[in-house]
Amino acid sequence: MLDAKFVNDHIDSHLDKRQVNKVQHGFPSPRYWTEESVPVGSIADSRRRIRDLGRSTPLNLYVGVPYCIKTNPGKCGYCLFPVEEFRGNEALEIYFDYLSREAAMYKEAFEGATLGGVYFGGGTSNLYKEPMYLKLMDLVRDLFPDITPDADLTLEGIPQLFSRSKIEAIRDAGMNRISMGVQQINERLNKLSGRKQTLKHTVQSLEWARDFGLAANLDLIFGWPQQTVRTMIEDLETVVSWGVHDITHYELNVGGPTDFALNRFHELPAPLSNLEMYRESRDLLKSHGYEQLTAYNFRKPGDPVGRDYEEGVAPRLDNLDSVGLGYAAITFFGDTVLDDGDSWSFINQRNLGRYKEMIDNGQFPVEQGFGHAKQDWRLAMLFRNLLGLSVSRTEYRAAFGIDVYAEYQRIWDALGERELVEVTDDSVTLIDDGPFYTPMIQALLAEERYRALREHEVRNRVVVDLAAPQKLVSA
Ligand SMILES: C[S@@+](CC[C@H](N)C(=O)[O-])C[C@H]1O[C@@H](n2cnc3c(N)ncnc32)[C@H](O)[C@@H]1O
Ligand code: SF4
Repeated sequence: MLDAKFVNDHIDSHLDKRQVNKVQHGFPSPRYWTEESVPVGSIADSRRRIRDLGRSTPLNLYVGVPYCIKTNPGKCGYCLFPVEEFRGNEALEIYFDYLSREAAMYKEAFEGATLGGVYFGGGTSNLYKEPMYLKLMDLVRDLFPDITPDADLTLEGIPQLFSRSKIEAIRDAGMNRISMGVQQINERLNKLSGRKQTLKHTVQSLEWARDFGLAANLDLIFGWPQQTVRTMIEDLETVVSWGVHDITHYELNVGGPTDFALNRFHELPAPLSNLEMYRESRDLLKSHGYEQLTAYNFRKPGDPVGRDYEEGVAPRLDNLDSVGLGYAAITFFGDTVLDDGDSWSFINQRNLGRYKEMIDNGQFPVEQGFGHAKQDWRLAMLFRNLLGLSVSRTEYRAAFGIDVYAEYQRIWDALGERELVEVTDDSVTLIDDGPFYTPMIQALLAEERYRALREHEVRNRVVVDLAAPQKLVSA
C-alpha cells in the first residue's frame, strides 16, 4: 500500500495542476500497450467460453472513420485523436469496403452475442453521404441480426456536415441518436479551432434531429483558449434554452503538437479557473434539472426520445466487451474468470495504409495492445466505474473478492479528508470537486501498479540488451 505521506503530498501538489485527461483509455495508459501480436483469435474463443458460462454482457461496438475536413490550424487546433484529411468521397467508400471486410472477420466470434449499442465515431462519421448510413447499419445487422429496441445506435458528427436529408437517412437506417461535436457555441471562440461552424448549423441540426425523432447529444469543451466563466455560462444557457437533454462537457485536454498547446497555451484559463468552470457548469446544469451521470455527462430526464447512453462507463464490474472496428478503433475485452493475460485492451492500426494492408492479408488490423493480469483488469474496471462517479463495494467484492475501500484505504481516507470522496458501507462515491479530479484520483489508484509495470519494463530491457549486445553497439 502507498505510504500516507506520498498520498497526501501527491494530492496536495496536484490540486492546482492542470488535470491530464487519460480517461478515454482507462487503465493502463496506452504507453503500456506494447504487445504487437494481440491474439484476436483466442480472444474470440474466450468470448465464446464466457458466453457458455452465461456471464457475458451485451457487446458494444465502436465503428470509426479516419477522415476529417481540413482546418486551419490543423486538427481543429486541439484534437489528439488520430485522423486523416478528407480528400473526397471515393476514399471514404473505399474505406467503408475495408471496414465491411474487417467486420466480416468477427462474424463467427459474435455469433449468439447480444448487441448493447453502436457508436459510429471518428474522425467525422457524418462525412458519409446519405446512402451510406443504411450500409453502415447493414454491416452491424449482418453481425447482429436481432437488434433490440433498447440498443443505443449513435452517429457522431460535426454540425456543419449534418443536413436534413442526412438526418432522415440516419433515422431511416435505424439509428436512434446523434452526437454533435459543437465545442463552443460562441462563434468567436469556435473560430480559434479553424472550423467554419456557425450557430445556425447547430440549431438547424438539432431541429432536424427533433423532426425525425432522434435523440441528440452536444459535446462542449471548457478550458478553451480565451474562454471565461461568463462565455461558458452563456453557451450552456443557450444549449439549455434549446431543450437539449444530453450534454457532454469535457475539460480541454491540452497536449501533443496541437496549435492550442504550441501557440495558445498562454491563452488557456489557469488550472484553477478550469476548476471554477467545472463547478459553475455543474451547478448551472443541476439547477436546470440535469443529472450528472459521469465526470463529463449531464442529462435532463424526460426526453421522449432520450437514450441511456453513458460514454466510457461499464454497466458491470466483472465483464466488459467493447469492440472497436475501423482505423484506430479501440477494443476492451475482459472478464474476472479469465486467466492472467487473457483480458485485453488493444488499438487498431493508426496508419491507414497499414490498416488496409493487414485486411488485404486476411489479418485483424491490430496495431498493439495490453494483456491484463487480473489486477490490471480490476483497475481498468475500477477506473470505468469511477468515471460513472461511484463504485459499489458490494459488487466489487462479488466480482473480485476484495473490498475496494480496504484495497486503497489510504487513498480514499486522504480524499475523504478533503471532501472529494464519500465512503459508505455500500459504495465509494466521488463528491463535490471529486469528479473534476478523476484523472488525479485514477493516477493515484494506479501508482503502485505503474511502478511495477515500469520495473518490469526496465528488467525486460536489460535482458534484451544483454541478449543482443551488438544492438547496443549499433544504436
Ligand atoms: C474525437 S471527436 C470526434 C467527433 C467529431 N469529429 C467532432 O469533432 O465533434 C469527439 C469529441 O471529443 C472531444 N475532444 C476531442 N479532442 C479533445 C481534447 N483535446 N480535449 C477535450 N475533448 C476533446 C470533442 O468534444 C469532440 O466532440
Ligand atoms: S475534433 Fe473532430 S473534426 Fe476535429 S480533428 Fe478531431 S475528430 Fe476531426
